[in-house]
Amino acid sequence: MNEEMDLIIKNGTIITASESYKADIAVKNGKIAMISENVNVKGERVVDAAGKLVLPGAIDTHVHFELPVGETVSADNYESGTRAAACGGTTMIIDFATQEKGMGLVETVHDRFKHIEPKACVDYSFHIAITDLTDKILDEFKTSAEFGIPSFKLYMVYENMMVDDGAIADALERSKETGVLIAVHAENPYLISRRIKKLLSQGKTSAWYHYESRPEFVEVDAVRRMVYLAKSLKAPLYIVHLASREGLDEIIKARDEGLEIYAETCPHYLNFTNEVYKREDGRNFICSPAIKGEDSRKALWEGLRRGYISTVATDHCPFKSYEKDWGKDDFTKTPNGCMGVENMYPYMLSEANKGQISFNKVVEVCSENVAKIFGCSPQKGTIAVGSDADIVIYDPKKKFIISKENMHSEVDYTIWENCEMTGYPIMTFSRGRLVYEEGSFRGEPGWGRFVKCYR
Ligand code: URP
Ligand code: ZN
Ligand code: ZN
Repeated sequence: MNEEMDLIIKNGTIITASESYKADIAVKNGKIAMISENVNVKGERVVDAAGKLVLPGAIDTHVHFELPVGETVSADNYESGTRAAACGGTTMIIDFATQEKGMGLVETVHDRFKHIEPKACVDYSFHIAITDLTDKILDEFKTSAEFGIPSFKLYMVYENMMVDDGAIADALERSKETGVLIAVHAENPYLISRRIKKLLSQGKTSAWYHYESRPEFVEVDAVRRMVYLAKSLKAPLYIVHLASREGLDEIIKARDEGLEIYAETCPHYLNFTNEVYKREDGRNFICSPAIKGEDSRKALWEGLRRGYISTVATDHCPFKSYEKDWGKDDFTKTPNGCMGVENMYPYMLSEANKGQISFNKVVEVCSENVAKIFGCSPQKGTIAVGSDADIVIYDPKKKFIISKENMHSEVDYTIWENCEMTGYPIMTFSRGRLVYEEGSFRGEPGWGRFVKCYR
């Protein structure tokens, strides 16, 4: 091949979910054009990756940018959120388009396009969060899947968003006929509301009581029921942000029975325990499900290692500190959600570097499995000829201490403050274009494109 390439990455060690090997990569028109021991062609830009790892960009399948919550909206908009993603080695995000009651599914996504198109710095897709599951909406599952959005989230909690078990069962039944995937936020709302009422009446209002209002069994009960429904209806199911050991036990049993049940967990459940709610800044960690005890934290790592947890995603949904402060004297007034879109890949890779898990496993759960489950593989999620050149160059020797000053989102604090990373991404390419280099954002709003997904 004599044609000049746009980008050549030389001498690096390529890591995919299944392999680690030394090779060069050549990129043309946003796609990986060649992979070989020595790509002997000219390149407009040549990067020497000797001593570095070359990985597919992460795909964060769970973010909430510009999410309206009560009187406010989550702190990162599509520009700052995707900018932070790029700076953390995430080259595609899947956001939640929340259906306004009465609105159609594809209509809901079109509404979000208006916000995201001019702002996205990396590629994107959506899941639709269905809040009003009418017969008309069930009839739209197929249309949405044909449009390129084959995944829907149903909330068992949150006023105005929650749906009941009957609706979830209907959605599961229709999902298997149409090939879409139902994702569930699994917590028992009746347990939570009664516990909150009791705690507040006893004057128990600090952040710790957020955990007490949503202890392990609140999640476990809901996961158990959802798995049972999916099994009974012979439908696939995806449990978002799994946080508890016993919830994981349900997933293990189901997967061992051969059911198509997927579990996702998040970096904050892998790194922190409920002890954070005793801190002075405990309210900054308020999210749902609440962060659980050490027993759960350890079990989630084990679940990843053994392949029972299929994906890691961030549930990135931060609020500014003045908004978190609304709950200083009453934990129920703090908007729920934490940040993570810039931290997921560096954190997971750092844990791999320390021996907690393999680098291949990190690529599997943060990128390849996501692309496979949600239907954008092999365009995304791997390093292969013909795939998008979404590539991260990672320096395993670089030390990095996270602080709000070196993050790229709009939030004025980070729950990851002072966490030390062993190794860090030094370059991110989105379809061959440099979007991050050594601490600085190098991309541009409007670069990111909608990725159609087909399961
Ligand atoms: O606390 C959280 N997780 N907020 C975001 C919405 C959700 O439940 O995923
Ligand atoms: Zn949720
Ligand atoms: Zn979420």
